[in-house]
Amino acid sequence: MTLRGKSFLKLLDFSSDEIMELILLAEDFKRRKKTGIPHRLCEGKNIALIFEKTSTRTRCAFEVAAADLGMKTVYLDPAGSQIGKKESIPDTARVLGRMFDGIEYRGYGQEIVEELAAYSKIPVWNGLTNECHPTQVLADLMTAHEHFGSLKGKKLVFFGDTRYNMCNSLMVGCAKLGINFTACAPEKYFPYPGLVDKCEKIAKETGSVISLETDPLKAAANADMIYTDVWVSMGEPDEVWSERINDLTPYRVTDGIMRSAGCNCLFMHCLPSFHDLGTSVGKEIFRKFGIDCMEVTDEVFESKQSVVFDQAENRMHTIKAVMAATLADL
Ligand code: CP
Ligand code: NVA
Repeated sequence: MTLRGKSFLKLLDFSSDEIMELILLAEDFKRRKKTGIPHRLCEGKNIALIFEKTSTRTRCAFEVAAADLGMKTVYLDPAGSQIGKKESIPDTARVLGRMFDGIEYRGYGQEIVEELAAYSKIPVWNGLTNECHPTQVLADLMTAHEHFGSLKGKKLVFFGDTRYNMCNSLMVGCAKLGINFTACAPEKYFPYPGLVDKCEKIAKETGSVISLETDPLKAAANADMIYTDVWVSMGEPDEVWSERINDLTPYRVTDGIMRSAGCNCLFMHCLPSFHDLGTSVGKEIFRKFGIDCMEVTDEVFESKQSVVFDQAENRMHTIKAVMAATLADL
């Protein structure tokens, strides 16, 4: 694999083989970690972690993976830097590019992370933008690969807001690896047609099918993976909650949907998830709308078919693979 010096901004930039090799590298790192074999392949390097939105998994995954690879991290929180407020992205990128070996960026528009990469001249890794969440999808595909042993010909169905980062990146990842992909939502929540076209072209080459469906039970039939995400993403205004709850409640992942898929189907979620009243937002929604879960029922979330914590763990192994592949000679 020759990804040294390359940024990881979106899955469209990578070939099917490169994506699969990153997954296999992550599986190898997981074995090394579990058996205590050191893998300090980036000893002495320094990376910056920029978070303009909050995070638990992505930040921890970058921090732990960097430490395992022998690197030091500097964390820049949403309020603690000049980025975008007193200093432009090109200027920030050129400053950080002089000090660091790599930059992780989580924030808003995809154009910001693309600009950071263009100006910093060092590898930049996308830790989530409004449009893409590529490191999450690597972890999801790794989880499915561990579970099924192979990915080609499987079927993944995404329920919910199919216009946002998670569905976009899953659709690309599935197309690249020959996984049949269905986006299931009301029509007005369907993904951007330009991206669907691109994915259909890729899917044709890899032998899979991309489809859009409004009927949840029809979409779920014979699925190998059912995936959902929060109905309101970070950075969206509170005012959209009411409309989303109204429009997307029929697309909640329930026992009925899982039964339509069959008992071997995995339930997947990038997390965090509103599946109970264990969060302040969940409680507030219950008070206002009288519902005790949103995109998935607690029953499905806690079921044997749920692999959500495997996905969360695999964030660390896949992010490690991305950093090692782009910073070290493997
Ligand atoms: N899935 C994910 O990106 O989680 P965090 O927001 O906690 O990083
Ligand atoms: N769509 C979600 C994903 C969180 C990992 C968001 O952007 O908030």
